[in-house]
Amino acid sequence: MKVVIDCDPGHDDAVAILLAAGHPDVDVLGITTVAGNQTLERVTTNACVAATVAGLRDVPVVAGSNGPLLRRLRIADSIHGESGLDGPAPIEPTVHPAAGHAVDFIIDTVLAQPGEVTLVALGPLTNVAIALRKAPALAQAVDRISIMGGSWTRGNMTPAAEFNVWADPEAAAVVFGAPWDLTMVGLDVTHQALYTDEVAARFEGLASPAARWLGELMAFYRDTNRAVHQMGAPPVHDPCALAAVIDPSIVPTREARVDVETAGTHTAGMTVVDFGRRADAGSHHVGVGLEADAFWSLLANAVAALPLER
Ligand code: RIB
Ligand code: CA
Repeated sequence: MKVVIDCDPGHDDAVAILLAAGHPDVDVLGITTVAGNQTLERVTTNACVAATVAGLRDVPVVAGSNGPLLRRLRIADSIHGESGLDGPAPIEPTVHPAAGHAVDFIIDTVLAQPGEVTLVALGPLTNVAIALRKAPALAQAVDRISIMGGSWTRGNMTPAAEFNVWADPEAAAVVFGAPWDLTMVGLDVTHQALYTDEVAARFEGLASPAARWLGELMAFYRDTNRAVHQMGAPPVHDPCALAAVIDPSIVPTREARVDVETAGTHTAGMTVVDFGRRADAGSHHVGVGLEADAFWSLLANAVAALPLER
């Protein structure tokens, strides 16, 4: 499965990159970055670090939008720290950003091989929205798009809104309004992907630099999620959106119409999910559960397959 990952690393984005690199069925064509968890410069450096740890030497990392379409950039440094990947000792990346812009990379890569590329969007949807406006054919040319974002219950940035959609609601409205095969993997799914002590034990036995790095990332991420969200174990959001396309049985879905609130004073960034309008235009596959044990096995097997040397 050919994938382009659009992301804002971010601890959980980095884990998704490890999953993509280690899974035998995934061919990472590129990693594009968007400002979100941290500034564009920092998330791009972090994507290069994650690609370095994952052994993705020949995969282009291409920087994209430095902020939302209309709103000011609001980063999540309370969760991901000053660097955006706080926790492990700094790593000098051997992977460096490629020339060009993420929007053009997404368009060119997808249109060069219609029907073959899966987009996996793990941050604010600014790059994806601009790509759709610049090349509307993108919606039909991708095989599918899987998005970590939204929620059909409650948000994590406000009671109504999840961070990726909250960060750029206008971009999300463009993306959810396009006629493509879209899977929404929201908080209703990812809050079941909790990195508990039992889960951590599944990775502690692995000897690779990537496994150690993952453990160090999760230790920091656990502490900040406890402090900010009062969660005993941190939800590892982003790899769920990739798992949903690697093995759809891991994330059961239902059809629903999804609209994005952009005007609400208290609800901007809310994904309004209507399971009663599943046949409407604009309906998508909405994640409603997680086969957690299968998810952690998928991730552990992928991490175990990563290079033993950096
Ligand atoms: O709400 C969770 C999402 O926001 C994840 O993608 C996390 O990395 C942050 O971007
Ligand atoms: Ca993210």
